[in-house]
Amino acid sequence: MIDPEAVYRETTPASRALHERAVKVMPGGTTRTTTYFEPYPLYIDRGDGCRVWDADGTERLDMIGNYTSMILGHAHPKVVEAIERQAARGTAFAAANPLEVELATLLCERVPSLDAVRFCNSGTEATMFAMRLARAFTGRPKIARMEGGYHGTHEYAEVSTRPLVAEAGPIDDPTPRPDSMATPQWVLENVVVLPYNNPDAAERIIRREASSLAAVILEPIIGSGGVIAATPEFLSRVRAVTRELGILLIFDEIISLRVAPGGAQQLYGVTPDLTTMGKIIGGGLPVAAFGGRADVMEMLDPRHEPHISQGGTYNGNPIGMAAGLATMKELTPDVYKDLNRRGARVCEQLVEVFASHDVPVQVNGAGSMFALHFSEQPVVDYRTMAAADKRKARDLFLGLLNHGVMMAPRLMGALSTPMGEDDIQLFVDAVDEVLGEQDHR
Ligand SMILES: Cc1ncc(COP(=O)(O)O)c(C=O)c1O
Repeated sequence: MIDPEAVYRETTPASRALHERAVKVMPGGTTRTTTYFEPYPLYIDRGDGCRVWDADGTERLDMIGNYTSMILGHAHPKVVEAIERQAARGTAFAAANPLEVELATLLCERVPSLDAVRFCNSGTEATMFAMRLARAFTGRPKIARMEGGYHGTHEYAEVSTRPLVAEAGPIDDPTPRPDSMATPQWVLENVVVLPYNNPDAAERIIRREASSLAAVILEPIIGSGGVIAATPEFLSRVRAVTRELGILLIFDEIISLRVAPGGAQQLYGVTPDLTTMGKIIGGGLPVAAFGGRADVMEMLDPRHEPHISQGGTYNGNPIGMAAGLATMKELTPDVYKDLNRRGARVCEQLVEVFASHDVPVQVNGAGSMFALHFSEQPVVDYRTMAAADKRKARDLFLGLLNHGVMMAPRLMGALSTPMGEDDIQLFVDAVDEVLGEQDHR
């Protein structure tokens, strides 16, 4: 059997050298926990289309596209042109700009729940502002979220994202667990944790907490937590109970906006009160947004007193708006359809390859995203996701890197428009070869 780590070490000397330098100036040698993996992360020098080149000049197929954000691939000519044009005209002003009006209009036209939006720079900020807005609008302190969902790294978001199952309490009434060493006790007291895809349990907990609950936030398709789609029943039940009890429903579509022009809310036909967006809407630049019902968003209107202040030196900065607009304009309904068709096909091919090696796996697919879980049982929520074998996942991830394919270390993948049939076949063949080299049965 081939040791994937030994091959990785042999073939990535420049990344190893960069890492040795980097650890002296950055904890772990990166500035983003999610790009770190053992034995050391890959340092990417450049990208073009669906390919990236590492610091050694080794070319790989990019099967994750900066965690689903690079839907048009890298250095798309129209995006490069938009960035260059705006860079030459100035990149940041202490003023509003015409491009932000255009991108806001486009988003409001496409995404069913959006009467109005505000821009910010990261998904973390978007969910933080959406939750704050919900607390202000309802006058209630608590936020409910799904066990195993991901909403970024602010205090309210860092609860029960990846808890140890042994410490996470009953499956149908999870205990809020801190994700971070410094999560304050008051946060744990103000975050309610719901089991995903369990409508009865979720409804019972929401009713129990109703008088202090400002919002329920959820990903209609859990992204980095394993590509887990909500059942239509789950979404419609949570929608009905939150509406009845005057609790705001927030869809975190930072990843799932890539499944349809109007996001997962359009596919499911369930409209939340607020929506958070990020990743694809910035065309590869740090742009995120939150928006929703006019009467809720009005609380940010500086013409009214009191109002919620939303600062941000780079909010709506013209260069991010230009890249985002160029990207979103390329994303016609047909482009989404085509990406989703190819996403479904990749999942079918993966199922066949794993079966041919007799390796039990769950291929979770949604639109143009997918995730692989080494498990015999369907992955439908956090507990079933957590039961999958993580060591096998790491070996497959490293093996794929050695065979010229970059996925997320947790084996999440996302297609981009420049990927042709040949690229997808290369990916499927790489999985086949790695499974032949490693023992996963
Ligand atoms: C659903 C979801 N919400 C929030 C975030 C946080 O976004 P950012 O990394 O831009 O802060 C992410 C990032 O992956 C995400 O997937």
